[in-house]
Amino acid sequence: MNKSTIFSLALAACCCTGLAAQEVNHMVVKANKPGAEIQPTMYGHFFEDINYGADGGLYAELVMNRSFEFPNRLQGWKTFGNVTVLEDGPFDRNPHYIRLADPGHPHKRTGVVNEGFFGIGLKENAQYRFTVWARGNGQKIRVELIDPYSMGETQVLTSGDVALNSADWKKYELVLTAPQTIDAAQLRIFLASAGNVDLEHISLFPVDTWKGRENGLRKDLVQALVDTKPGVFRFPGGCIVEGTHINDRYQWKNSVGPVENRPLNSNRWEYTFPHRYYPDYHQTYGMGFYELFLLAEDMGAEPLPIVNVGLACQYQNDDPKAHVPVDSLQSYIQDALDLIEFANGDETTKWGKLRAEMGHPAPFNMKFIGVGNEQWGPEYPERLKYFVDAIRKAYPDIQIIGSSGPNSEGKDFDYLWPEMKKLKVDLVDEHFYRPEDWFLKSGNRYDNYDRKGPKVFAGEYACHGKGKKWNHFYASLLEAAFLTGVERNADVVYMATYAPLLAHVKGWQWRPDLIWFDNLRSVRSCSWYVQYLYGHNKGTQVVPLLMDGKAVSGQPDQNGLFASAVWDEPTKSYIVKIVNVSDKAQSVTVEFDGLKKKKLATQADCILFHSDNPDEENSLDNPNLITPKESKVTVDGKTLQSEVGAQTFVIYRVSMQE
Ligand code: AHR
Repeated sequence: MNKSTIFSLALAACCCTGLAAQEVNHMVVKANKPGAEIQPTMYGHFFEDINYGADGGLYAELVMNRSFEFPNRLQGWKTFGNVTVLEDGPFDRNPHYIRLADPGHPHKRTGVVNEGFFGIGLKENAQYRFTVWARGNGQKIRVELIDPYSMGETQVLTSGDVALNSADWKKYELVLTAPQTIDAAQLRIFLASAGNVDLEHISLFPVDTWKGRENGLRKDLVQALVDTKPGVFRFPGGCIVEGTHINDRYQWKNSVGPVENRPLNSNRWEYTFPHRYYPDYHQTYGMGFYELFLLAEDMGAEPLPIVNVGLACQYQNDDPKAHVPVDSLQSYIQDALDLIEFANGDETTKWGKLRAEMGHPAPFNMKFIGVGNEQWGPEYPERLKYFVDAIRKAYPDIQIIGSSGPNSEGKDFDYLWPEMKKLKVDLVDEHFYRPEDWFLKSGNRYDNYDRKGPKVFAGEYACHGKGKKWNHFYASLLEAAFLTGVERNADVVYMATYAPLLAHVKGWQWRPDLIWFDNLRSVRSCSWYVQYLYGHNKGTQVVPLLMDGKAVSGQPDQNGLFASAVWDEPTKSYIVKIVNVSDKAQSVTVEFDGLKKKKLATQADCILFHSDNPDEENSLDNPNLITPKESKVTVDGKTLQSEVGAQTFVIYRVSMQE
């Protein structure tokens, strides 16, 4: 290492102070040797309906079990008076509905109360769109938003009447304004006239959804997704692609078309962890593949759907009979082909026409498809082969992603990678939910990967801290450190998505997660900020950065430092990322070598991400506890001198002089 001892280092604004004599870590950026392109897809999001990520989360529907299709037909509802459930409703795939009939007493009422998802969150002065499919000619229903626990008694917050005027099924709408903010209101509906009424698909959405769309998404959560500038968007999972049983697998065709007629699916996250059991957790598919493609488009991210390969979840169901026999895969393969047609086909095609009818005549320009989630064993490649053959034949330009199983290394991983090479998939999906020490020693993971084989999609990863630490700062610091190795190997790694994405604080099954929320608020975790910092400082080409002639990847003689550098063509800047995971501040000089006549600006932007207490995390009550701070640092000719504080992630952006 080119180490020198200095006694007084002109420390820039971005630095800590108070160092006496110390070793300098001298890094050299080979500024005239930009290398591999950084793929626009490099940093993105992984979405799965886990932790109430869709129903009760991103999908802004506030009514639980709106179609009375949960196996317990009235789950989520309380009834009073004379309520019956019938099953010859107007939507053939969701046939159940309720009938409110005469309670049999002049002073009594018939009605229902919906509890929402851990209550219904309302914001003062915000509008809420109530809709219902109803049958009744001359009857009236009263619709109320109530606070069930206001000082020990129910308080009506706001209400309105809906007059029914059709003996046939008809959709009605009522917009209510919330007089106050409350996170656990309820929706109450009762018969306010004589006679019977039939009600189906009872829905309540905030009017102010993302882009104001009906059947829309929760605005603050989408904003948090957009704000990281994701380049790729993987959906719909995760294990729910597989299903515990093959019949529970995510079936994209059930998730498109009119929302009222999308059939309910179970959600394996209802019961996967017995200590986090949520018997009311199901998938309505209200936010289905159309909405997910649209979301990808809104975010400017490449959509990356994953389809089932004919295998049920191998963790939960490894009986060979649970899977689809190899000679019976045709409908599964057809689902994959039809999905490409749904995304990209023109209006003359069956599925392209449906997309157009749903509101998007232009294709979504899908370029990638994943086949299989966390699969293992020979049963995976022997099925995948048929998908690869069929997709290549019909859509040679679509890039296919295969799986390397649930582990970052080991028997299954070592078996599947060569199999994926044999099948010539374009990318291989790797998953690693790993502890801190794994992240600490994996900064060089991709340095020796085969440059000629499939590219890597780090499709699910997160640093899992020990003990009671989850979304604490230190875990995010190690993710930042690991990502320097991803960035340095951008010729091999084309995509990386942290997982899982979303979690309701009252309904989670898995943690850590990128974004937490309750019914009114959301918080961006420290890991979110790392994604944000990488997303906003992605650059366009890798530039070699060396210390003692070696990549800086947290090796034992590298003082706990990880680093990488990129060139960013649009802003004509170098972006250097340094992560110091050690508990000591490190003096660093970054020399930009090979600039010849070109000159660097005399000041660089410095973005610093640090927490004095590495165990701390952002929370709903204190969402901005740990956020990046920006300042400037002096550049002396071709060298930037700085001190990177203990356990700190720092980014320098150095532009060229005009
Ligand atoms: O992200 C949570 C789960 O982790 C995913 O569903 C699965 O693919 C992995 O095991």
